[in-house]
Amino acid sequence: MATERKAVFLFFGGTGDLAYRKLYPSLFNLYRKGNLRSHFAVIGTSRAKMDDDKFRAAIKKSLADSGNRTDSKEASDFVSHFYYQDHDVTDTAHYAVLKDLMDKLDKKYKAEGHRIFYLSMAPQFFGTIAQDLKTQGLLSEGNDVFNRLVIEKPFGRDYDSARLLNDALSKSFDEDQIFRIDHYLGKEMIQNIEALRFGNTLVESLWNNRYIDNIQVTLSEKLGVEERASYYDNSGALRDMVQNHIMQIVSLLAMEQPVAFTDTDIRAEKVKALRSLRVYNVADAATNFVRGQYGSINEQADYRHEDNVPHDSTTETFVAGKLLFDNYRWSGTPFYIRTGKMLADKFTRVDVVFKRPLVDIFAFPQSQNTPLAANVLTIFVEPHAGFSLQLNAKTNDTGFSTEPIKLDYLVDAQKSKDTPEPYERLLHDVLKGDGTNFSSWPEVSYAWKFVDQIRRVWDLQEPQFPNYTPHSMGPAAAEELIQRDHREWVYRLNN
Ligand code: BG6
Repeated sequence: MATERKAVFLFFGGTGDLAYRKLYPSLFNLYRKGNLRSHFAVIGTSRAKMDDDKFRAAIKKSLADSGNRTDSKEASDFVSHFYYQDHDVTDTAHYAVLKDLMDKLDKKYKAEGHRIFYLSMAPQFFGTIAQDLKTQGLLSEGNDVFNRLVIEKPFGRDYDSARLLNDALSKSFDEDQIFRIDHYLGKEMIQNIEALRFGNTLVESLWNNRYIDNIQVTLSEKLGVEERASYYDNSGALRDMVQNHIMQIVSLLAMEQPVAFTDTDIRAEKVKALRSLRVYNVADAATNFVRGQYGSINEQADYRHEDNVPHDSTTETFVAGKLLFDNYRWSGTPFYIRTGKMLADKFTRVDVVFKRPLVDIFAFPQSQNTPLAANVLTIFVEPHAGFSLQLNAKTNDTGFSTEPIKLDYLVDAQKSKDTPEPYERLLHDVLKGDGTNFSSWPEVSYAWKFVDQIRRVWDLQEPQFPNYTPHSMGPAAAEELIQRDHREWVYRLNN
């Protein structure tokens, strides 16, 4: 039985792509499940002029576009909770209009003063908005009410800008009121990392540098930059994917067991892990990280000839790197990461490569046996969700040879269909006030400090771009990075 939550939502960037594609359909799912019912209202704002009816029609269309039937009473009742107010976020005096509307809807729907402010727009306005929300009296008061601020990425473009942003937000909201979205934390199999690790003796007792040789995290994208070039060209893969999604995944893989399964305890362990991540000096940053930019193939333009990309752009569309933790659990066990656009396929996976047995008794002098393969535990995040464990077993014959076999668990199609979208989970967490699946400020700050160092080194040198073929797994340097350590990527093209 779902618990009904109460709140008035105020969406900045309320007519944006993310709102229509993800946020409103996710709210509808929560409504259908009963997490939202009677005591909620949603205000969309942007600079455009629009009345409530037109906004509601756009909401219905967004529900239809995401595969919902919208001719039902349920859909009509849901959209009746939506209101529109045009607003220029830099016009401080105009926040009074938003305040009146919030107060009115709060009373009308008996939302009991609970407020969620969602910032899904140009990040340069985040600080001003947060400040005006407070000074213009939009935060409700009282012991039993909540005011929560949800922030979309990017959270700064380096440590200094992120800190300034955080300082600005902290003037109006406490850390436990700020929900920094990283949609990877809303993914089923990313959340499953904790279940896998802390729910299984078999896994957690081996989860350290004595038994694990290396861990590989791959976030591969098949598409290029599409129509987001104006944002992406200023960001690049390091900021767009590594600083946030990859660092979050790595911290979940690397952290110690939390004292309890609470947001405070989990965040504390993630921060501890990130604190022991080695921040590279110039020489190490240059050797342990490689970057790439895609070239052209057939009709596919190279990155520099995509719409809105400068022809001399040095923005990286690919990153691979080696991360080292200086702590007792991980010292000597590297984490290799890679991500890029225009790669062979769209998938996310984590490969945990165990050490080979110290002694291979099957490799006696007369034996024809091939050396024992490493055990590999793979976490398939997307597009298919599941786990796979590679073990060595005897071949099924009269001789005695070994071969690697796999124990696979794949989430079935029906379960996959029923899996909530990341944004549905994350919005639900915000309503519950659960910060587990959001990035805390210390996590964000350590991630930036690590990434800034790589960026600093890269900014000193003109890269040789383009350097990888579309639909490959990135530049040759990404192979060399791991081969240098006498290892290889578990996922390679054609395996
Ligand atoms: C976003 C990045 O955060 O994540 C995009 O800005 C990227 O560039 C996207 O395409 C990938 O997310 P997903 O869920 O499709 O793997």
